[in-house]
Amino acid sequence: MSRSTVVAHPNIALSKYWGKRDGGGNVPAVPSLSVTLEGMSTRTTVRFGEDLAADRFVLDGVEVRGEARDRVSQLLDRVRVAAGDERRADVVSRNDFPTASGLASSASGFAALALAAVRAAGLDWDAARVSDLARRSSASAARSLFGGFVELDPRRLTSDLDVLGAVCVAPSLHLDLAVLVCVTSEHAKALGSTGGMRVTAERSPYYRAWLDEAPQLHERLRSALLARDFEAMGYCAEASALAMHASAIAAGVVYWNAATVDALAAVRGLRAGGLAAFATVDAGPHVKVLTLASDAATVERTMRAVPGVLRVLRTRPGDGARVVEREDAAS
Ligand code: PMV
Repeated sequence: MSRSTVVAHPNIALSKYWGKRDGGGNVPAVPSLSVTLEGMSTRTTVRFGEDLAADRFVLDGVEVRGEARDRVSQLLDRVRVAAGDERRADVVSRNDFPTASGLASSASGFAALALAAVRAAGLDWDAARVSDLARRSSASAARSLFGGFVELDPRRLTSDLDVLGAVCVAPSLHLDLAVLVCVTSEHAKALGSTGGMRVTAERSPYYRAWLDEAPQLHERLRSALLARDFEAMGYCAEASALAMHASAIAAGVVYWNAATVDALAAVRGLRAGGLAAFATVDAGPHVKVLTLASDAATVERTMRAVPGVLRVLRTRPGDGARVVEREDAAS
């Protein structure tokens, strides 16, 4: 028996990935840059065993079958091929935040699964290779392998055989950032990100404009981050989220609810009052507010008062995925 347990955190893209390159392999169409968040986590145990007839996936105490289990098995298949190991696996995973509601559960979920599966199979892969494995299941998961500020840039990919993993561009202490996650719904979203990207690419009159704009915003955001220019970075982050959602909304892909719109207005109101606060929204209705730690209490009070904001979680830059327990056949 070989077992490994990993803890991973979600990440929030400051410059967004939306859209995939043609040709398969789950390669993003645009570069992205995220911050890994402390506070929320996924804990996943993978056990390969001779006693198992099929892969089993238990998420938050419930056995999952169908498409979600198949996505887990596809990742495990890649590990089995690389390790020359045919054993099936038992995967037990738990999120301490709502699953599949746009709180980036696929990012922490596939990051934790990739690292736990690789280590349980006894593979000695480096972080880039584990990140590449996670990316093939969920591109944002490639970024959660690392802590701090993390970039995933498809322009690094030179041939189909290359490994495309994320890289850390600045450690978590680089900026004294606070991220306030404003939860506006407890329900799972109706359309996953892969479906949303496909519909946007097929139907949005603004998809082309997004593909042209995203890399430029990314470069500006990256430079602002490296220069520790929080305001410039915040403006780019909000612009990236709005451009991504504008292209999606034009295709009828609307992840927002009324509270999303009200929360975005509250953030603009904070800025009008002189506070450095900026918003970003992923493929779900929640609004994540970026601010400096010194302003976090004031911003949090304002966001809690927005009608339809159910809860506000205060987080900050955190660590990458890590093994917390391991048991080998020999031990
Ligand atoms: O990697 P996925 O399939 O979970 O897609 C992530 C899409 C966004 O969260 C909206 C943007 C991003 O870069 O994380």
